[in-house]
Order: sequence, then structure tokens, then C-alpha cells
Amino acid sequence: MSNYVLECQALSKVYNDATTNIEVLRQIDLQVKPAELIAIVGNSGSGKSTLLHLLGGLDTPTHGSVFWIGKNIAAMTENEKCSLRNRYLGFVYQFHHLLPEFTALENVCMPLLIGNVDPDAAIVKGEQLLEMVGLKNRLQHKIGELSGGERQRVAIARALVAGPACVLADEPTGNLDIHNAEAVFQLFVELQKTLQTSVIMVTHDMRIAEQADRLFVLEEGRLVVR
Ligand SMILES: Nc1ncnc2c1ncn2[C@@H]1O[C@H](COP(=O)(O)OP(=O)(O)O)[C@@H](O)[C@H]1O
Ligand SMILES: [Mg+2]
Repeated sequence: MSNYVLECQALSKVYNDATTNIEVLRQIDLQVKPAELIAIVGNSGSGKSTLLHLLGGLDTPTHGSVFWIGKNIAAMTENEKCSLRNRYLGFVYQFHHLLPEFTALENVCMPLLIGNVDPDAAIVKGEQLLEMVGLKNRLQHKIGELSGGERQRVAIARALVAGPACVLADEPTGNLDIHNAEAVFQLFVELQKTLQTSVIMVTHDMRIAEQADRLFVLEEGRLVVR
């Protein structure tokens, strides 16, 4: 059994179009330990989102393998992969991807309801997570009634509600001002410590990245330790 929450070996991704092949990722190895926070920085177009998509099993590598709890995801059926992803991984994006017509609480409970958790239990859990992210008084607010920083905190609560081993966050602070970006980052650190969740965070912001347990730069398709 692997001690790594998430691992990739010799991960490569080539995008083909009519005339050229773009080699975005070249033989990337990464091992994520329980409860560690990894930051990845890199220029726009360097392949950061591509890497997160591959690690999350949302896209298929050209070469190489991804392992969740030591299991090669290429060997899973689509159903197995979806059900494991729903329980095991959480996702946070720059533009939160919340459902605007639903309340904060409904958005946070969604992964549990999709995972067939009893609705009453889902609500209790959702309320607990929203309280942890400081939104106890916003449970019934629609997403459109919340500020940018609050929406991002709802998105973090949603990513964590199913108790994932690892959260994949793609520029989660990219859409926020400095004050809110720092607050959202501190929230990640706090949740990672209390819930023992691993986090892989892609960011443009070096001040934030430098506070991670490990920092990598993605350049020319390779992950370089900083
Ligand atoms: N589906 C796709 N088809 C072709 N090229 C793509 C696709 N997705 C991304 N790319 C290219 O791969 C490179 C890396 O993209 P991306 O991973 O989104 O970078 P980042 O998140 O670091 O800004 C870019 O040059 C982009 O144009
Ligand atoms: Mg990106």
C-alpha cells in the first residue's frame, strides 16, 4: 500500500493540432504526502491546469501514470474513477463554479447528495463546513448575494465536505484582491491542519506560494523544486 495520497510517474501530455504537437508536460514525477500543502507556480500557458486535470483524472495523459491511494487510475472503469474521485478528491477553481440559483448550503451539500448521503446528514455536514469557513450566517444566501471572497470560501467548503484526502486548487485566489487572497490561503492552511487534507495549489502569487510546505515551478514541461 502506498503512503502517498496522490502520485504521478513520468506524466507527459502532448496536444496535437493540425500542424504541430505541443508538449505541455514532460515526464513529471510528483508524490503527495498526507496533509501537505504543495504550491505550483508557472507562467500562463505553462501547463498548470493541464497537470491538475491529469492528477484529478479529468483528462488522460499521453504517457505516464496517476495513482490515487496507490491505485493506477488507468486501470479503473469510468464509474469506479468517478465514485472514487467524488469521495477522495476536492476541486477548487479560480471562478468557483458554484451553481448561482442555489444557496450556499445547497451548493456545499451537492457532492454529498450526488454521493447518496442521507439528505439530513448532508445538511448537518454542510452547515458544519460553512461554519468552519466563517459563513455560518450565510447558509441561505444565494451565490449571487455573496462577495467574491465569500463565494471562494463556499467553494472551499464544497471541496472539503466529502472529507477528501486531497484538494486540487487551480488559482483559487486568482480572482481576489490581496486581502481576500491571503484570507482564503490562510483558510486552506487552517483546514489542511484540522482536517489533515493534502492540498495542491496552483497560483500566480509568489507571496502565497512561498508559504506552502513545498514549492515547485512548472517550466518547459517540468516541475522544478524552488
Ligand atoms: N485542449 C487543449 N488542446 C490543445 N491545446 C491545449 C488544450 N488545453 C491546453 N492547451 C495548451 O496547453 C498549454 C498549457 O495550458 P494550461 O495547462 O491551461 O496552462 P496554465 O494553466 O499553466 O495557464 C497552453 O499552451 C494551451 O494553449
Ligand atoms: Mg490554468
